[in-house]
Amino acid sequence: NAQQNTAVIRAGQNKTVISKYIYSHFAEHLGRCIYGGFYVGDTSKIPNTAGVRNDIVAALKKMKIPSLRWPGGCFADTYHWKDGIGPKDKRPSIVNKWWGGVTEDNSFGTHDFLNMCELLNTDPYLAGNIGSGTVQELADWVQYVSSDNKNPMSNLRRENGRDKPWDVRFWGVGNEAWGCGGNMTPEYYANEFKKYATFMTGDKLFRIASGANSADYHWTETLMKIIPSHLVEGVALHHYSVIDWNKKGPAVKYTEDQYFRTMKSALFMEELVTKHSAIMDKYDPQKKIALVVDEWGGWYDVEEGTNPGFLFQQNTMRDALIAGVTLNIFNNHADRVRMANLAQAINVLQAVILTDKEKMILTPTYHVLEMYNVHQDATLLPVELTTKDYVFGNEKLPAVSVSASADKAGVTHITLTNIDPKNAQEIEITLDTSAYKNLTGRILTSKTLQDYNSFSTPDKLKSVAFKEASLKGGKLKVKLPPISVVVLELKK
Ligand code: AHR
Repeated sequence: NAQQNTAVIRAGQNKTVISKYIYSHFAEHLGRCIYGGFYVGDTSKIPNTAGVRNDIVAALKKMKIPSLRWPGGCFADTYHWKDGIGPKDKRPSIVNKWWGGVTEDNSFGTHDFLNMCELLNTDPYLAGNIGSGTVQELADWVQYVSSDNKNPMSNLRRENGRDKPWDVRFWGVGNEAWGCGGNMTPEYYANEFKKYATFMTGDKLFRIASGANSADYHWTETLMKIIPSHLVEGVALHHYSVIDWNKKGPAVKYTEDQYFRTMKSALFMEELVTKHSAIMDKYDPQKKIALVVDEWGGWYDVEEGTNPGFLFQQNTMRDALIAGVTLNIFNNHADRVRMANLAQAINVLQAVILTDKEKMILTPTYHVLEMYNVHQDATLLPVELTTKDYVFGNEKLPAVSVSASADKAGVTHITLTNIDPKNAQEIEITLDTSAYKNLTGRILTSKTLQDYNSFSTPDKLKSVAFKEASLKGGKLKVKLPPISVVVLELKK
């Protein structure tokens, strides 16, 4: 147990860039994420552009959303993209097998999604169906959205009103192939992946293999062994901060014991990315293939009275802390983790936005993503951290987490969290230079872990100016209150 919190920031020698795509998001046809979330239809009274809510677009642009994954999740391996193009009244319906058994009318399809990405100024990440789909279907989808030639698929796109192709780089080849994506073995999936990846055509495709479930290291090892590097640009990993899949506990009225267990699961991400990266290093020492954590976040019981298949949960300071520590972990592993997608953007799991008819609230998680966006495409500054413990009963977790970067204008940002709900943490940070002259900061904090933004108090939690930091020479002294997420800005 350390007696003091200290950190030493080193000027990066190998100049690792924190890919902005670490700050990506995920939107599935699940509950009210798309329908009643992003998409209200163009006849709605809620101000919209081609059916997509304008307030959501503005909020996500402010937060900076670099990429958005769609249409699943488990839904992706049931989705036939040709059902979602052409005149809306002619589109066939399907039943959403995984999520509440609701009827999906396919009114939100490929054009709707890709046009929405243009509005959001975000790069689309399409998840292909290899569970119930075919190689031809996925190859056709790639052609349909990306090809500028004359060919049956791009001609069909033009007939449907879009002349120029969209810019789609990121492609998922199946989802959770070990589970809802087809209950495959890693050997079987790796061979399937090769077949699908071979027939996807384009010059700048970024093909992402369906990755391991948390600590299934055998999965990653098998994929890296079987799939040749010229066919794959990313290997995925899914890990949720969950206490127990059979007893997840409430999103708001949780105990400190439940809080501790959730944070333990969130902090396990450090070990996960370290070990999956080490396996990838064996087969890909030059780190050409990215580790893509394309599903992460807190997962609790649904709110009382809501459809259990809709995964709707409130979002408290616990979620803010999950986001803060996890993004620090991803930043510190940016040499291998080059994309990550929080699950999910609107009204599902650890959402950044919740809606209730025309009302919209920004969750504490939103505020963390917005505070941390200064790291997007900045150069990582490695940090050596010694932290005191957050002790609960006979167990302990590191109280403080940190990451740092220098942006293109030479401004340094440090993000810190204190997950201890009772004790403030003072930390002394030795900086990479004593040339800094100007220090400012922002903080997201609250007295009680269980606090959240409701539709009647939407601004209860938001970031405010932070004054508990002082700069002297090359040393920074910071006092982090309990339950806090802080961003500091240092200028020379
Ligand atoms: O995000 C919800 C679900 O969690 C996704 O559909 C699936 O991939 C994962 O199991």
